[in-house]
Amino acid sequence: MKCKKCGEKASVNMRQHRMALCREHFLEWIPDQTERFIKKYNMFTRNEKVLVAVSGGKDSLSLWDILVRLGYNADGLYLGLGIDGGIGYSDESHRLTDEFANKNNLKLHVVDIEKEYGHSIPVLSEISHRGHGKPCAVCGLTKRHEMNRIARDLGYDVLATGHNLDDEAAVLFGNTLHWEPDYLLRQGPVLPEMEGLARKVKPLCRFYEREMTAYAIARGIEYIYEECPFAEGSTQIFYKESLNQLENVRPGTKLTFYLRFLEARQSGELFVKKEPAQAHLHPCERCGQPTSAPGFCSFCRMLEKAALQPTELQ
Ligand code: AMP
Ligand code: FES
Ligand code: ZN
Ligand code: ZN
Repeated sequence: MKCKKCGEKASVNMRQHRMALCREHFLEWIPDQTERFIKKYNMFTRNEKVLVAVSGGKDSLSLWDILVRLGYNADGLYLGLGIDGGIGYSDESHRLTDEFANKNNLKLHVVDIEKEYGHSIPVLSEISHRGHGKPCAVCGLTKRHEMNRIARDLGYDVLATGHNLDDEAAVLFGNTLHWEPDYLLRQGPVLPEMEGLARKVKPLCRFYEREMTAYAIARGIEYIYEECPFAEGSTQIFYKESLNQLENVRPGTKLTFYLRFLEARQSGELFVKKEPAQAHLHPCERCGQPTSAPGFCSFCRMLEKAALQPTELQ
């Protein structure tokens, strides 16, 4: 297999694009494509301040690397979730994120959930009785709440996450299987800023997961290989595996599924555009962040519930 650009031996073959590239040209192609997506979807400009949510995984570390290389003004945010899972998951991902920031002289904000709210994510999940024994729901709620709070408090224009095509296609698959119109209308590369919610962007949403793995390895980025220990057996992983089966037989299926959805949504042919549900937000009475619920937002209700049952901790 030969590189499409220089004819040398290819190191990455992308069947979905009918294209193979050598290491050097692959390392150029990924940032070039990212730049194209940032412009195409009007994500942000070089005059805006970007906060990259970095988990220590290959996607978000690569995203930070790419944005800085492209000359964007991008700082990092790491959230300490306090997940051990027998492998010191959070400690190790924190160490690798710190190392990346130091090596590249980048600014990293670190917020530890236990220090901030008194308990780690697994404990908060247990004592608030949310999520049926798995901390993933409380974790997602907390990450969304904290990312938005910090991006706004620190004056960033936009919050970027490392979601790739496999992530986006799996979410889309789930929302389609259940025909969730509100979620379908909100899914996309950009969620515009509104009423106290920071603009959110996913610059890697058109890259396959294996492309991002290849990028991180080719670039020599040290990242945490393990998935979150609680992810095992999740519906999301099942959807990813199902889509991979389709992809193996028909290369490009995942990309077409996602891109055609974006086109259909944009054209309004399949989805009737209505006012998004969050149009009627008001500030939470406890933390001031936007919520559609009366009184407290769902994060603060979870904290309140956790605080009411401290004795159940043992
Ligand atoms: P996940 O929900 O774990 O698939 O992660 C999706 C994206 O959320 C990652 O690519 C990161 O941008 C962000 N993210 C996940 N975990 C963290 C964390 N602990 N700190 C900061 N950002 C995170
Ligand atoms: Fe949050 Fe796994 S429970 S990353
Ligand atoms: Zn080449
Ligand atoms: Zn609140």
